[in-house]
Amino acid sequence: MGKILVQGGVPLHGRIRVKGSKNASLPIIAAAMLTDEQVVIEDVPDLLDVRTMINVLRSLGVEASYNPHTETVKVCARRVKYSQPPPQLIQQMRASFLVLGPMLSRKKQVRLTLPGGCAIGARPVDLHLKGLTALGARFTIDQGLIVAETEGLRGGYIYLDYPSVGATENIIMAAAAAPGATTLENAATEPEIVDLANFINSMGGRISGAGTSSIRIEGVEEFHGTRYTVIPDRIEAGTLLLAGAITGGEITVENVVPEHLKSLLAKLRETGALVEEIGSSTLRAGSIGRTAAVDLKTLPYPGFPTDLQPQFMALLCTSRGTSMVTETVFENRFQHVSELVRMGARIQIDGNHAIIQGQPYLTGAPVRAADLRAAAALLLAALGARGVTEISGAVHLWRGYSGLEERLQKVGARIQVVSAPDCQKREQRSC
Ligand code: UD1
Repeated sequence: MGKILVQGGVPLHGRIRVKGSKNASLPIIAAAMLTDEQVVIEDVPDLLDVRTMINVLRSLGVEASYNPHTETVKVCARRVKYSQPPPQLIQQMRASFLVLGPMLSRKKQVRLTLPGGCAIGARPVDLHLKGLTALGARFTIDQGLIVAETEGLRGGYIYLDYPSVGATENIIMAAAAAPGATTLENAATEPEIVDLANFINSMGGRISGAGTSSIRIEGVEEFHGTRYTVIPDRIEAGTLLLAGAITGGEITVENVVPEHLKSLLAKLRETGALVEEIGSSTLRAGSIGRTAAVDLKTLPYPGFPTDLQPQFMALLCTSRGTSMVTETVFENRFQHVSELVRMGARIQIDGNHAIIQGQPYLTGAPVRAADLRAAAALLLAALGARGVTEISGAVHLWRGYSGLEERLQKVGARIQVVSAPDCQKREQRSC
């Protein structure tokens, strides 16, 4: 499952260009199925999850390819031949469930197994199903598969009980091609939702209000091909900025939208870390000496992102004083805690709170990453720790960060990849 060795204690200094957003790329690749013309998507990061999504489209008979050199995806859904992707593909990654909305538009029927992905909680799909039902879809269970069918989608009114990112995306994609108007209230407001709406609009869609909690979608009959560049990955940018602070160095990240990182930057400043905005798309963060403890709570955007909570906790492990981290988005997102404790962190869990007593330093140890952002947190902790850390389960890192080891090595990190998983090599051959 992939193993890396990290020699910690080296302050990182330098500039790193942030890749395109994983969480924007995945729904955009799925939405490319809405048109039968060619779609070109640029700045798509070279990730296992991207390759999984492309394989899902291919399994439906759609032409889809990824060029890792140009970081470009091409999709041509002239024909969508099949309506049942292999269960193992859907189980590999929760985001594969995002083909549900576009498939209902194109095929009127799709059979999907329940999605998998990071083991960070129950993560049901009830909100996806409830929203799509309001647009005229019917759902039944047959031999363990969700069978989704419709005689034809139509616009409708949907109030989401919770602003789920994935449900908002599935609903937008289905409603974009459904005759009539759809109003989606209490929608997720993440930048990736805005990017999806901009992408669909670039194909001829009529979506307004994305980025607010009330989205209006006028269904259109036909979409046309487009060329589109995805937004920079705010979670990767945040992870790299934290690497600057945790190692007592200074990292400059290029290709960022500072607006997307407001909550992280505010919290970083509160710790006493150095944070600078240099122009409209460049940020710098670092620290001299130990940072200070802070409390933080994860929330839907624009609140503090749950996808940066584990990495920020890594920083708090060596901050002066006692911090409290409250996780409100996922019910099981403290899987990094036991591993940070192996490295000398003092953390107590009380329900969805983690109380962290900052230590002067962490020490290298063998640790295991159980999910994507936990892997990032352990890598950051290892970079800041004394001695060598062996991180197994590093496959999770490759699901969400493209070439991170090499890019960190260029700014001074001592990282050695001991083994890469077979699945990574296989996936790379197949796209
Ligand atoms: C997306 C991101 C993920 C991020 C998360 C929250 C992608 C590919 N993934 O995941 O990295 O951590 O947003 O910012 O974009 N829920 C339900 N019922 C549903 C749907 C969700 O109860 O039908 C719950 C989930 O269990 C979870 C919470 O809502 O507790 C948030 O989930 P959601 O916003 O849907 O996250 P994802 O789209 O899965």
